Amino acid sequence: MKKPYIFCHMIVSIDGKIDGTHKALPERKSSADFFYNVAFGEDSHYDMQAWLSGRTTTDEAFTKYKEPDVDKSAAPVPEGDFIVETDLPKYYVSVDPSGKLAWDNNTLKYRDTKAHVIEVLTEKASNEYKAMLRKLNISYVIAGKDALDYEVLMEKLSDLFHIETLMLGGGAVLNWSFVQAGLCDEVSVVMAPFADGSASAASLFETKEGLSTDTPVSFDLDHVESKEDGTVWLRYKVKN
Ligand SMILES: NC(=O)c1ccc[n+]([C@@H]2O[C@H](COP(=O)([O-])OP(=O)(O)OC[C@H]3O[C@@H](n4cnc5c(N)ncnc54)[C@H](OP(=O)(O)O)[C@@H]3O)[C@@H](O)[C@H]2O)c1
Repeated sequence: MKKPYIFCHMIVSIDGKIDGTHKALPERKSSADFFYNVAFGEDSHYDMQAWLSGRTTTDEAFTKYKEPDVDKSAAPVPEGDFIVETDLPKYYVSVDPSGKLAWDNNTLKYRDTKAHVIEVLTEKASNEYKAMLRKLNISYVIAGKDALDYEVLMEKLSDLFHIETLMLGGGAVLNWSFVQAGLCDEVSVVMAPFADGSASAASLFETKEGLSTDTPVSFDLDHVESKEDGTVWLRYKVKN
């Protein structure tokens, strides 16, 4: 299968949580800056063209669980994908199988990084949702009928957008589904020296019924680096 090189890059607490009240601690900023620079900074370790996010992560960070502004009487859109030319250096690839996200723009900004949005839909997404994306000039690809077809997605990201290196950027459900599908090549964990003991906050990886199971996976340790502020950077190759 033709596919980009995929690394999962996440910042976690010392108990492996990717969310929780510890994120609000001002002292965590230097770990968060290191996390950003590894993937997005001027001298970044990775040279990626895109990062991939799950629907919940996008709703939390950008679209805020609003209702998409669709026109129920929109004319039928042409079959297939919709590709928009962009000058921006990065793509934000949003896995949104049913077409739920309330975009109002075809770009987003994460710190200093501006990216063009690509929506990853399945055939479940409605005509009116695709019409809204076209109106906003948001690229979309159809990958699968009812469930995400990983192979189709990998080929489209490679062939249509020339993505060679892709960051798997969370959340927990998206990350684990890609690891379980055998698509993740490397895991980069930035461990920030904080915790909050939350019993409900998501961990680095989580199963979701219908998307993934708890089949174990092994990793080879590739790199360990510690920083003066207590941040630890771990990189693993996935034993696929
Ligand atoms: N610390 C960090 O570095 C970091 C980074 C990113 C996110 N986060 C945190 O992660 C949390 C959200 O994570 P989450 O695990 O709840 O959700 P998520 O992975 O962001 O999104 C899950 C949803 O995405 C869609 N999806 C994901 N994988 C899919 C697949 N293989 N096939 C089809 N659909 C798929 C589904 O959408 P539908 O439900 O629409 O079907 C699924 O319910 C947030 O709290 C966020 O703050 C932390």
